[in-house]
Amino acid sequence: MNAKRISYEQARDGNRALWDEITPVHLRSYGVERFLAGEPWLPREIIDQVGAVSGRALLHLQCHFGLDTLAWARLGAEVTGVDFSPAAIEAAQELSKEAGLPARFICSDIYDLPQHLQGEFDVIFTSIGVLCWLKDLKRWAEIIAHFLKPGGIFYIMDGHPLRYTFGDTEPWKFALSFFHNEAPYVWDEKGPDYMDPTYLTQSPSYEWQWAVSDIINAVADAGLRIEHFDEYEAMSAPVYPEMTPREDGLFTIPDMPVPLPIVFSLRARKQS
Ligand SMILES: C[S@@+](CC[C@H](N)C(=O)[O-])C[C@H]1O[C@@H](n2cnc3c(N)ncnc32)[C@H](O)[C@@H]1O
Repeated sequence: MNAKRISYEQARDGNRALWDEITPVHLRSYGVERFLAGEPWLPREIIDQVGAVSGRALLHLQCHFGLDTLAWARLGAEVTGVDFSPAAIEAAQELSKEAGLPARFICSDIYDLPQHLQGEFDVIFTSIGVLCWLKDLKRWAEIIAHFLKPGGIFYIMDGHPLRYTFGDTEPWKFALSFFHNEAPYVWDEKGPDYMDPTYLTQSPSYEWQWAVSDIINAVADAGLRIEHFDEYEAMSAPVYPEMTPREDGLFTIPDMPVPLPIVFSLRARKQS
């Protein structure tokens, strides 16, 4: 893995090819059948912090094939999911029909969304495995502010930036900078998919690291008021497949040398 100076278009097209490639793998490995059987899907921490969504217009950014989007629909939200992978959006539309949960799905790069979507939302949600695909957090936050109703909330839960500083050769050994890299890191060796390790991904990925300050400042500079920021060593549900339950029933990554944050969450509000 190396940082590589390439155009955003090259990185975006490469990442889209990767997500198109692994969507069918994820349809088999995410646990769709458990969702369809009615299993509570979103972690308790997210539900508590987002609050009641019944009857509220919710925009889900980077929705993949729509499982979380449809989980919000099941809680009564009027949902719109956005993703730039045509394969993921097609799968999301199929799943919406199969689950009998109404939803609108739009295929668009986040940065092009103002050209493809009108209207304002009460809640904008995005979670787990999202920021590393984004080149420009300032513009990302401006787009979120643009689509929020006055008084509406933005909520993100994602991997903690510290988590991405560990390399993949030795567990818990610092290998990558904590700070933002202008040029994306390129992961170009065929490697096991994160959900189904028996599947070796063929397409490279291009990923950006963001520091905690980049995230907080992007949201604040877009004019949103930050109401909550949290860092988790363990959670009520395994938001990453490698998380296992510990004695208190919470899920975490095993063999952590000292308590470390693996996930963060942030809630911010557009002023009325
Ligand atoms: C790990 S998934 C996150 C969703 C959710 N946590 C899940 O696992 O279902 C990341 C998603 O971001 C999408 N994505 C990456 N870059 C994007 C962009 N610039 N615009 C829109 N979607 C993007 C990918 O297609 C992928 O579906």
